[in-house]
Formats: sequence, structure tokens, C-alpha cells
Amino acid sequence: MKIIKTKNYEQMSRVAANILSAQIIMKPDCVLGLATGSTPIGTYDQLINWYKKGDIDFSEVTTINLDEYKGLSPENDQSYRYFMNTHLFDHINIDKDKTYVPNGLEPDSEKACSEYDQIIKAHSGIDLQLLGLGNNGHIGFNEPGDSFEKETHCVSLTESTIDANARFFSSIEEVPTQAYTMGIKTIMQAKKILVVVSGIQKASIVKKAFFGSITPEVPASVLQLHRDVTIVCDEEAFSAL
Ligand code: F6R
Repeated sequence: MKIIKTKNYEQMSRVAANILSAQIIMKPDCVLGLATGSTPIGTYDQLINWYKKGDIDFSEVTTINLDEYKGLSPENDQSYRYFMNTHLFDHINIDKDKTYVPNGLEPDSEKACSEYDQIIKAHSGIDLQLLGLGNNGHIGFNEPGDSFEKETHCVSLTESTIDANARFFSSIEEVPTQAYTMGIKTIMQAKKILVVVSGIQKASIVKKAFFGSITPEVPASVLQLHRDVTIVCDEEAFSAL
């Protein structure tokens, strides 16, 4: 496990963008696993800047995202497809047909998940998987207690997650109660993993996940077993160590 400590969020974003762009330069038709959430936004902004300057070409890149809310359409501004379009895909020369997010509109969970696993297998796996880190150690929507074994599966969101998300919707009834997520097994099969972590609120989970014992109670702790993981972490997120 390689840890790169940066001064602040901007530097973290720049270093992470550098690692992603190096991957694209080394293998222009690579498969990138991508994440949503607030942490990677600066990384995506940096990639867009470099694209606009002519430094990166996304035309042959394929992307496969970690997760999506079940029941939300791509047009819903809370969907992860919408997030990816607005924060990255709409601003670069990627072929949208080569960008994959689980199909939130597929009501049959088994079908949605097995189709997604097929997509990953058909691309011979993920070259570089970008991850954020949840405050409780979750990666994707793999919450504490989940087994390390699973491929893409449907999860029921906890009440606290539903309550936390309620502010983005006009009523609590509209908040999705389930999501499709890549499993820990799928994530661990990526050839390389890049984790971005920022802010004081992540300090104690950084210590637990990357320096504590390996347990499904802290899903990200399994990353200690992966042979090629880089964690890019700002000073605040590193401050418990
Ligand atoms: C996003 C995802 C989540 C986030 C995590 C951290 O696709 O799967 O696991 O990476 O919740 O979110 P932020 O970056 O908002 O702290």
C-alpha cells in the first residue's frame, strides 16, 4: 500500500488526476472504475482542465462506475449517472456509450446486477479503480458488516443514509431506499486501486481502515490485501496518524 500525503484538497485532487492521466497515457483504451461523492470532484475538475488544454485524450477510454440508486432515472439530478455526466463526461471527449453506471431503472435487481458484472467481465476487468472512503469505512455502497465476497448486488440503504439524503429530495418518500453497487470482490479484482480521502472528518476512519485490523466491519480495510493500492490523502485526513 502506498500512501501519498498532500497539503490540502487541491493538491490531493491534482495528484489523483495525475495518476489517472498517467494510466490513460500508458493505455489509451484503459478501463477506469469511477466514483461519485464530493471527494473526487476536484480530481474530475483537474482532468477536465487538462483535457481542455489538450493534454489528455479520453476517446478510447471506458469507464465503469461503482454504484447507482435503484429507481432513479439518468435524468434525475440525484442519480449517479447525472452526477458523472455533469461533473465529467459532458466536458471531455469520452464516448458516452463507453461509460457504464448500473441501470437504476431496472426493477429486477438480479438482472441489473448480473448484467453489470457481465459488462465488467466483457471488458476484462478494471485497470484502475478510483474510490472515495465513507465515514464508516464503506466503499461503493458496501456498508460495514457486508461480506468481502460479493460481486455487484442490491443493498438496502440504512435509515440514517435515507435521512441524510432526504435534504436533496422534495419529500422523504422520494428518497431511494435501495442501490446497486459493485461488491468488494469486484473492487478487489481491479488491477490498481486509487483512494482519495480529504478532511478532518475522515481522520479516524483512515487510521482504522488502513492501519487497523482487516474486517468486514470496516469494508475499506480489505484494501490492505490488494497488491497495488495508492491512497492520496490530505493532511487533515492523515492527522490521526
Ligand atoms: C460513491 C461511493 C461512496 C463514496 C463515499 C465517500 O460512488 O460509492 O462510497 O465514495 O461515500 O463520499 P464522499 O467523497 O462524499 O465523502
